[in-house]
Amino acid sequence: MAQSFLYLRYILFAVAVRAQTEWPCPATDDIDPCICTFSDDTYLDLDCSNISNDTQLLTVFQAEFPFSKIRNFTIIGSASTPVNIKHFNADVFGNIYFENIYIQYTTLSTMDGDPFNRSQSTLQKVHITDNLLTTYPFDTLQSYTLLTDLRLNDNNLTHMADIISPTLRHLDVSQNPVLRYGNEVFYDIPDLRTLRMRFDGLTNIAKNSFRYLTKLTTLDLTGNSVHILWNGSFWFESSLLRYVYINTNILDTIEVDAIKFCNASTDPNTCDPLEGAKSPIFHMRNNLLTDLPSNVWEDIFNLPSAVSSTNTSFDFIGNPITCGCNIAWIVTNDNYFERVEPASTCENGDTFEELDPNFFEANCNVW
Ligand SMILES: *[C@@H]1O[C@H](CO)[C@@H](O)[C@H](O)[C@H]1NC(C)=O
Ligand SMILES: *[C@@H]1O[C@H](CO)[C@@H](O)[C@H](O)[C@H]1NC(C)=O
Ligand SMILES: *[C@@H]1O[C@H](CO)[C@@H](O)[C@H](O)[C@H]1NC(C)=O
Ligand SMILES: *[C@@H]1O[C@H](CO)[C@@H](O)[C@H](O)[C@H]1NC(C)=O
Ligand SMILES: *[C@@H]1O[C@H](CO)[C@@H](O)[C@H](O)[C@H]1NC(C)=O
Ligand SMILES: *[C@@H]1O[C@H](CO)[C@@H](O)[C@H](O)[C@H]1NC(C)=O
Ligand SMILES: *[C@@H]1O[C@H](CO)[C@@H](O)[C@H](O)[C@H]1NC(C)=O
Ligand SMILES: *[C@@H]1O[C@H](CO)[C@@H](O)[C@H](O)[C@H]1NC(C)=O
Repeated sequence: MAQSFLYLRYILFAVAVRAQTEWPCPATDDIDPCICTFSDDTYLDLDCSNISNDTQLLTVFQAEFPFSKIRNFTIIGSASTPVNIKHFNADVFGNIYFENIYIQYTTLSTMDGDPFNRSQSTLQKVHITDNLLTTYPFDTLQSYTLLTDLRLNDNNLTHMADIISPTLRHLDVSQNPVLRYGNEVFYDIPDLRTLRMRFDGLTNIAKNSFRYLTKLTTLDLTGNSVHILWNGSFWFESSLLRYVYINTNILDTIEVDAIKFCNASTDPNTCDPLEGAKSPIFHMRNNLLTDLPSNVWEDIFNLPSAVSSTNTSFDFIGNPITCGCNIAWIVTNDNYFERVEPASTCENGDTFEELDPNFFEANCNVW
């Protein structure tokens, strides 16, 4: 390989002196203002951050590329000066295929079909963030056999089709304020580890939404408008779950059986206990919870913590919890009480660390 490479370089030198300095990149003038670099004797990277408009981008990819594979394809502007591209045609990239795509701070808003389809067997990371993107071809993800990391946060996506991907590990669709999707959108992403859907305007979490993400470690639903966790909303088959963020919503109700760890069952209405289940840290700050009923929480308080550095698994800071005999079941049980973040708040302004277990024992009926 190295030898034939040198041989090719020699031929090229003999044939075209101008191209010699650019090999194996395309001729500089042909791809201007994009910059192609050749690193580690192996990879071509292409940076088109200085592109002026869609027409110019089309022209760049019509250049003669000695090699069709690009490791990193980059178009990154700045928050104050986004790059002026708006639309990708289905064939904008011609024969060129990518390993990683980084498009950030542009005015990109639409694409036809799947412009990346030549990259189906090479694409690993797609970070198209901080643009105005309204559509993404979620329906073709199944064909991308190496894709592990898809970040589409801070766009204007309106619809996410059901995702099928055996390889995807990280998905971030945060800050797409009008994003909508079906109840089964996450049923077929068995390797997904982190799922971030912050500030997406979510109002409802359907039963079993996250259940089949059996490797899930982090779920982030911060900044939405969820007011109730229905029976089944938080049923998980993952024994690896470590962090659940549902901060800054309007949660006022958590139904009995809303949060459970289930073993693999063919019946979606059944949740038999998952062997080896551990409790993630539930970050539920800045919601409207007024009570922590034992029939909702006690089974989860009895699970060991999934995060070994702490036993504090439940963070209710910024909730107006009524700190009366309703929570005596927690306060008077050392094992439970230490599981609650001490700065969790009561409706009267007290924090949990100010609560005196002896007082609860003397004044509430606890057994
Ligand atoms: C973009 O253009 C500016 C100004 O000419 C230059 O300093 C910068 O290096 C260029 N960046 C890239 C990635 O081509
Ligand atoms: C696109 O940008 C190029 C280079 O700056 C410019 O010559 C051309 O007129 C622009 N085309 C459009 C349609 O704006
Ligand atoms: C290209 O990608 C590699 C691997 O993802 C990364 O480490 C590197 O920093 C990237 N290079 C550029 C110029 O973006
Ligand atoms: C990729 O998309 C182009 C344009 O839509 C289409 O002609 C081509 O068949 C597609 N290729 C694959 C591998 O799907
Ligand atoms: C996002 O999309 C919505 C509905 O499609 C539209 O009303 C809104 O103006 C868009 N926002 C931006 C910043 O483009
Ligand atoms: C929750 O729903 C399941 C069926 O999916 C049902 O068996 C169970 O009784 C329900 N729990 C409560 C408290 O209603
Ligand atoms: C799930 O748990 C139930 C009750 O403990 C048990 O009967 C069943 O075999 C388990 N199923 C699986 C797939 O582990
Ligand atoms: C967590 O609780 C266990 C059992 O009570 C205890 O052995 C361990 O030291 C605690 N860990 C921390 C970090 O507090």
